[in-house]
Order: sequence, then C-alpha cells, then structure tokens
Amino acid sequence: MDARIAAVLNRLEERSKHEQQELAELNSKGARFVREAAGRFMLDVGPDVGRLLNSLTRSLGARQVVEIGGSTGYSTLWFAEAVRSTGGRVITFEIDTEKVKQMRQNLTEAGLLEHVEIIAEDASLHLLKMTGPFDLVLIDHWKDIYVRDFDLAWPKVRRGGIVVADNILIPEATREQMKAYQAHVQKAPGARSFTLPLGQGIEITQRID
Ligand SMILES: C[S@@+](CC[C@H](N)C(=O)[O-])C[C@H]1O[C@@H](n2cnc3c(N)ncnc32)[C@H](O)[C@@H]1O
Repeated sequence: MDARIAAVLNRLEERSKHEQQELAELNSKGARFVREAAGRFMLDVGPDVGRLLNSLTRSLGARQVVEIGGSTGYSTLWFAEAVRSTGGRVITFEIDTEKVKQMRQNLTEAGLLEHVEIIAEDASLHLLKMTGPFDLVLIDHWKDIYVRDFDLAWPKVRRGGIVVADNILIPEATREQMKAYQAHVQKAPGARSFTLPLGQGIEITQRID
C-alpha cells in the first residue's frame, strides 16, 4: 500500500485505540451516552472490517460506493484506496461538520480526496434523490435509522451488489435495534443476508435476484 495512505490509517488506528476505554465506559451506561459524546470519537469500523471493505470493493469492481456515516474517514480511506483501482468513486455522508473537516484533511494527506465526494448532510435526504446503481453500500451511522436508510438504498443496489452494516454484535447497548435490522434485511426482496463476527459484527446483504 502507498506509504502516505498507510501512515494516515496507522495514525487513525492509534487514535481509535486510545478512545476504546472511554467508549466502553459510555456504552455500559447506555447508547444515549455515546451518542451525546459522539462528536469526540471516531467510532470506526476497525482494521479487519476496513480490509474486508477494501476487498469487497475490488472483487465487485465497484464503481459506485455509498458510505452512510463517514466520521473522520477511516472506512472512507479503505474504500477510496480500492476505487482508485476500479475507476469508481465513493460518495460518503457525514452530518457532523467538524468530522467532515477531519475527514477531508485525512483524505488529502493520503492523496485520496479526488476519489471521494463528501456530502455533509443527512444521508436520507440524498438517498431518495440518487439514481444508482450502487455496487456497495456501508451503513454505519445511528442505529435507530439503519432500517430507514437500508430501505432507501436497497432498491438502487444492483444485482450482485452488497450492503454491509456495522455494529451488529457490539455494542450490547444497541443489540436489540440490530436484531430488528437483521430480521428486516433477511426479508428484503431479492436479498440473501448473513452475519459475520468480524470486528464489531457486520451484516452482509447481497442482492441475488
Ligand atoms: C459509527 S460513525 C462512522 C464511522 C466510520 N464509518 C469509520 O469507520 O470511521 C457514525 C457517523 O454517522 C454520522 N451520522 C449519523 N447520522 C447521520 C445521517 N443521518 N447522515 C449522515 N451521517 C450521519 C455521525 O455523525 C457519525 O460520525
């Protein structure tokens, strides 16, 4: 991997490690406490899921990747590194303007900004208007709106395309919401879905009709 990209990923992984203890404490009090302090945390997918997202992008030859919840750009970097090879682009949604600033800075340092369109607004407003087809979608924003935004994205996912959702198994505080998400996507038209215990648990939903 390009040294500039590796350096940014390493720096963000170090930052994330430092955030884990405080996050665990907040999570043990309840999801609301993490949400209130969310602006301070990366809340990233972690290196294993990051690598998987990169591989999926390459394997699908993904040209249109949609990321719902970009934060400071950790997962965005993994996607962007892959779309450089597929000739595609990443459209990332992030509503927190301070995080958008950090994401832009991280992508610039890594030399990947030109492969990413950053939309600093509520994803649902745009998902409605977007035409697709989407090759790959990451859902990684607030857990109570996963189902809503899955339903907006799913009709635009191409045959063979994939939706990945993070935080399916961890934290415990949002587990019930994630069970509802799993049940919902397993019934989606044309979907085959399974849970992978990688990172904080991901749901992989592929369009097979
Ligand atoms: C779990 S973090 C994303 C982590 C990121 N995928 C990574 O790996 O670094 C969730 C992010 O979703 C953002 N968010 C929440 N609701 C949103 C919405 N409706 N539209 C866009 N972004 C949203 C939050 O501001 C937060 O930064």
